[in-house]
Amino acid sequence: MATQPALAEQRHLFEIPDEVCYLNCAYISPLLKSTTQAGKQGMARKLRPWEIRPPDFFSTAGKIRSTAASLFGSTADDIAIVPSASYGLAAAARNLPVRKDQNILVLAEQYPSNYYVWEALARNSGATLRSVARPADGDWTREILESLDNQTAIAALPHCHWSDGTLVDLVQIRQHLDEMGGALVVDLTQSLGAMTFDVGLIRPDFAVAAAYKWLLGPYATGLLYVDPRHHEGEPLEMPIFSRKNAVQFSDISYRDDFEPGACRFDVGEVANFALLPALHDALLQILEWQVPRIQASLGQRTAVISAEARTLGLDVVDPARRAPHFLGIRFPTGLPAGLTEHLRDQQIYVSVRGETLRVTPYLYNTENDLARFNQALRSFV
Ligand SMILES: Cc1ncc(COP(=O)(O)O)c(C=O)c1O
Repeated sequence: MATQPALAEQRHLFEIPDEVCYLNCAYISPLLKSTTQAGKQGMARKLRPWEIRPPDFFSTAGKIRSTAASLFGSTADDIAIVPSASYGLAAAARNLPVRKDQNILVLAEQYPSNYYVWEALARNSGATLRSVARPADGDWTREILESLDNQTAIAALPHCHWSDGTLVDLVQIRQHLDEMGGALVVDLTQSLGAMTFDVGLIRPDFAVAAAYKWLLGPYATGLLYVDPRHHEGEPLEMPIFSRKNAVQFSDISYRDDFEPGACRFDVGEVANFALLPALHDALLQILEWQVPRIQASLGQRTAVISAEARTLGLDVVDPARRAPHFLGIRFPTGLPAGLTEHLRDQQIYVSVRGETLRVTPYLYNTENDLARFNQALRSFV
């Protein structure tokens, strides 16, 4: 894809004090001011419950399905609303058969929400959990392709590793799985909204993203893509609002049938009057900015820091091997003691994950932020 024009800085849309240099979007993104407002208005609806009508239980969820569909490249029908990545992954695990002579593939040090569920499924089914070792050169794709075989029932992967942003080429993995017959489950929590995703090419069975990072949503909201071949699957809960014609509150008969699509995988009380309007506001803003442009803009920011880190002799993942919005920095002799505390004292916020200093900027980061971080980094080398 041709590189898209970068976006202007968007700090004015957030409430970040000038002295705060927040380079930790992969941890928790700050809310947009407009999102906070939408959440406050949503919360306030319950001050006046007599104004809440049955169709209101469905309308915001419907809008979220449509906006989310644009991010995944799917249809609105394929989207369920979930409270967390682990919830979506548990729904996937419930619907993917695995036998004891098969294996389930994960990456070494994969995020726990995309690990425990597969570890439990393997334990309960007698299948083998196969963990792909971290490659020294960052080429996960090669290692994954070598680890897949015709006994692989499920590959449960991210688009980029949460600790350092190293990429997984999901298109290649999908093609390989097509030949081998395995299912693909992807956790996009650290990529959706910041990196383009094409459901048509990647064709996951299930894809989930917690929304509180790169989707700028409130905590405890998330999106689950369900491929049409699983629309008739078994949900984790027996949600009532996904039932046929559930909007008819006056009809108290039980319904066996669900409305079509992925909505049967929705969390209970999906209407969530406080959080859903906030999530919808955040998703609309992301669509307005356009993901390819967000990706290009964040890539510029990580490039500035990566260049400085390289000059200082630090180890950073090759740009071709990492997600543009993510930077993992490693020190040749290990992370200096007190590094994050020292940065925090200067109001510079990043994360340490394993031996990696994880730096994840967003559109609110200014040139001054990047200069401040680089200067602080120099003082450690
Ligand atoms: C890759 C990845 N997946 C998922 C999550 C969040 O998981 P959950 O929504 O289950 O808490 C995180 C949070 O850091 C993450 O980095």
